[in-house]
Order: sequence, then structure tokens, then C-alpha cells
Amino acid sequence: MNIPLLLRLRDAGGQFLPFDQLGNQPEQVRHDLDVLEAFGFQFERHPFGSVAYRGPASRLCPDQIEHELNTRTIGRRIAVWSRTGSTNDLAAQAAGSRANEGLVVFAEEQTAGRGRRGRTWSAPAHSSLLMSVLLFPQGELAEPAWLTALGAVAVADVVSAWSGRTAAIKWPNDVRVDRRKIAGILVERGPDSAVVGIGLNANLSSEALPDDVRQQATSLQILTDAPIDRSELARDLLRRLDALYEASLQEGASALGSLWSMRSEHLGQAVIVETTGECFRGRLDSIDLWDGLRLRTHLDEICQVSADQIRAILPLESV
Ligand code: BTN
Repeated sequence: MNIPLLLRLRDAGGQFLPFDQLGNQPEQVRHDLDVLEAFGFQFERHPFGSVAYRGPASRLCPDQIEHELNTRTIGRRIAVWSRTGSTNDLAAQAAGSRANEGLVVFAEEQTAGRGRRGRTWSAPAHSSLLMSVLLFPQGELAEPAWLTALGAVAVADVVSAWSGRTAAIKWPNDVRVDRRKIAGILVERGPDSAVVGIGLNANLSSEALPDDVRQQATSLQILTDAPIDRSELARDLLRRLDALYEASLQEGASALGSLWSMRSEHLGQAVIVETTGECFRGRLDSIDLWDGLRLRTHLDEICQVSADQIRAILPLESV
């Protein structure tokens, strides 16, 4: 597929461009446009030989995602499925070969999508980014906490960049904007591999959100009031994941840990922390994926809760 042609038209911002400006051979340009149109990209053709971009394809385009992706590990291989049970399962099935490190499996629709704590994850077909990254991490990068942070930080940053809004991470892995969930991360480990599964709401209108989550969820389309080019979004997200992965390989896990802490939703706020047996109240002074958190109580005492004890963190006013 002629992706440079697609991007040239897209970047013209809806203006008509004459065929002879789009290539030396107008017949070839016409043919390449036919191929792009057949895939689902939208154009308006003018009878006197010019064309304007009108919108992305509704399905993910592997050629567009891979175009000048230039990542080192994550996205070295990608696969796009129309329908599958769970992309995490497909990525895990590829773990038999280390040559598949960095494989990213996308699906337009999941019939058995999983969330954390045994929940399901469902999204209308073509509405979201449903994807899983296969890694063979070593040492501290193999810890679930680090893998969760990798997904959460990259997703929070891509959401902020695309929406112009602050995206925060709610312990341990929800990405939220204005306290509404826009994405979740599910890390699953194999003997020497790990799958980082990401579900990110992109082209979902408020009406398309299930009744029971409408007040607690959002999407990029809702935040920007415009349809999202999901292939471009996927490309951006893969680059961010890869850059964070590479930085951690070079510098160790702690750099990502502090990026995660800085994006934590409740930092500095009054919260209730639920553990298996108790609840603690106070202002959240610090939070760390490995060390847990530190609260300052109303008596100005410091209370520490280790990461494995935390079950939930709730803003105090919501309780
Ligand atoms: C959560 O917030 O509970 C985590 C949700 C993770 C959903 C994604 S969608 C792609 C991947 N495949 C799955 O079955 N789950 C993850």
C-alpha cells in the first residue's frame, strides 16, 4: 500500500491535490488510491483530476502502523486479527520462540477479552486498541510491577498527547482522565516470557459505552470530539512502549518507576487505602510500585503500606 501517498494527502488537511503533484505517473497514483480506498481510507475525487483526504479506514491498517516505525524491539513484528478470543492468548502462544520478542498482536474484536481480577474486557468491534506485546524480560524488568508500569506510562502519555488532557494512573494499572477510565493493562507471565495486554478506548461514543460503566469511563473520541485514526494511535503507542523499554534496558527499572509515580492519580491527595484487613486514611505523600506508599495522617503521623498489601486507593471525598 502506498502509505507515503496516504500521508501526503492526509497532511494536506483536506485540501484537493492534483494527481500530477502526487506522483510522476497519474495512472499509478489512481491505482494506488484505488487500493487505499478498497482498504477503507476515505477520499473525495474531483472530476478534473485532483483528490482530497476525507478520513482514516475504520479498520487497523498494518502497513500504516509499520510505516517508518523504526522501533528496536516492540513492534518488530505485528499481527492484526479481525476477531479472536483474547490477544493475550495469541501473544502467549508465540512465546515458544524468542525470535518473537516484541511481537504485537492487535484484534479488532475479542470474544473472551480478560481484565484484572477475573473480570471480562469487552469493546465493540473496531472501537478500541486491543493489543498484546510479547517480551522476554530479564532481571527486574521481568517483575509484574515493572511490566505494568511500562504499559501504564506509555498509555498515559499517548492519551495525554492525543487528548491534550492530563491522563493519570490509578493504582496499579488503570489509566484515567478526570477520574474516568480510558484504558487498562493486564500483565500475564509465562515461564520466561511476559505478555503486556492493553485495552484503550478510542472510537467509542458515550452512547456506545455500556450503561453500567458510562459514568466511570471515557474514550479518546469523547475527549476530543473527533474520530480517532487508530492505526496512527497504535503507531505512536508502539514507539512510546519501545522507547521506555529501551531506556529501561540501558538505565535499569527505576527510571520507569519514577515516571509511573509522577503520573499517579492520587499523589498529594487525601485518600483511603484499603488493605486486606484494614483501611488507612491520610494524604498520599509518596507512592512506588515496589515500595508501596506513605500516608500522612491527620495527626501528622507517617503510615507506610507495602505494595503487596494495597487492595485499592480511593479519594477521600468519594467515600
Ligand atoms: C483491566 O483494566 O482490568 C485490564 C484490561 C486489559 C484488557 C486488554 S484488551 C487486550 C488484552 N487482551 C485481553 O484479553 N485483555 C487485554
